Amino acid sequence: MAAPREKWNSQAGFILAAVGSAVGLGNMWRFSYLAAEHGGAAFVVLYLGFTLVIGLPVLLAEVAIGRGARRSPIRALEHFGGRGWRWLGWLFVASGFLILAYYSVIAGWTLRYALDGLTGFATDSGGFFAEVSTGGDAALWHLGFMALTACVVAGGIRGGIERTALVLMPALFVLLVGLAIYAATLDGTGPGYRHYLSTDFSAIFDREVMVQAAGQAFFSLSLGMGAMLTFASYLDRDHGLQSESVIIASSDFVVAFVAGLVVFPLIFAFGLQAEVGGSTVGALFITLPHAFAEMGAAGNVVGALFFVGLAVGALTSAVSLLEVVVSSAIDGLGWSRRRSTVCLAALTAALGIPAALDLEWLGLMDQVAGNLFLVFGGLMLAIFVGWRMNDPTSVVLEGATSTAWLPAWRWLLRFVVPVILVLVLAGSLVATWELLVGEG
Ligand code: PHE
Repeated sequence: MAAPREKWNSQAGFILAAVGSAVGLGNMWRFSYLAAEHGGAAFVVLYLGFTLVIGLPVLLAEVAIGRGARRSPIRALEHFGGRGWRWLGWLFVASGFLILAYYSVIAGWTLRYALDGLTGFATDSGGFFAEVSTGGDAALWHLGFMALTACVVAGGIRGGIERTALVLMPALFVLLVGLAIYAATLDGTGPGYRHYLSTDFSAIFDREVMVQAAGQAFFSLSLGMGAMLTFASYLDRDHGLQSESVIIASSDFVVAFVAGLVVFPLIFAFGLQAEVGGSTVGALFITLPHAFAEMGAAGNVVGALFFVGLAVGALTSAVSLLEVVVSSAIDGLGWSRRRSTVCLAALTAALGIPAALDLEWLGLMDQVAGNLFLVFGGLMLAIFVGWRMNDPTSVVLEGATSTAWLPAWRWLLRFVVPVILVLVLAGSLVATWELLVGEG
């Protein structure tokens, strides 16, 4: 009957693929503009704190369920929780569809910028953004990006996803560090570093800053929609999960941090900080090209490389989003990988068209799927593993080399994570409501 379940070639392959899922537009684009808006270092410190306190425990819970059940999300939740928990798997699949649909539109912009940058960034970067971010062009680049994503996923776990991550992730890291070093050689970057790295601690207690930092920790680690669960379902049970989770979470943080070391000095060196204000999806796509245009010839190369890096990060994240829905169709409908990939990528591509045609719609999808659904999904998962699941300890401990972290994990997952996520969820509901009413 069904072919045996695919497997990663190596543990390093799994880790890099998971890092590839985590590292994406969230680290370079979303992180930088949120940090710029919410008090620089105060936001960074909070984001790091939430990554440790809620990100890591939920990540460990997700990969434990995936590896334990060796099934895609809907089946995995049924395996451990009975039919009554299947809906959560369905929510994960729905989130995968919706996030990928608009994520691919933004990724399409980055591809476009990378190519256009080579021949020189437009000095009227606001006008250029308005031109390429919505309409037929945006839709075409979105379709191109979806096709690229589908090619990787159709290649399978080893041949497609693992191989791509093994090459692209180290390359992306080297590229970002190179860009950060280059930015350090520019004049007038002092205020940029200062804004990014020195804290006005009062902002740490601002509710809005907290809500945003917690939501970002979640989005950036690809949590709350089964991406990490799905990747872990291709693991053998004799491999540990704890140091893997720590590596994944810390790489994700380091990449976001280094991206900040590229973005902040550049923006401040050219006096563009005022342009980043206002939480618009386009802020960074307008400010950075402006800075690159001011830099002359060097700006073309540096700028094109920066957007190539963004596109690479987006690709490995999009792959993990598509894999959630593809693996669900393979497990649930018995379809072949190729058929699942073609049909579901086409469906997602269609779903993304409205976001490519209307920026407000894109913003709404980001708020509902990228924030609300993820936080709710993560909350439910923490409640499931913390309170409902039978003996989660034995599931997470398989292959473990130490148990010292176990009591802390249980305690965080049962008490701390749910409380924080309920508060974040409330904040997120308010934000969604405001967005809806604002548009109505
Ligand atoms: N973590 C990805 C990023 O930072 C986005 C993502 C969210 C990917 C949820 C998969 C699932 O860009």
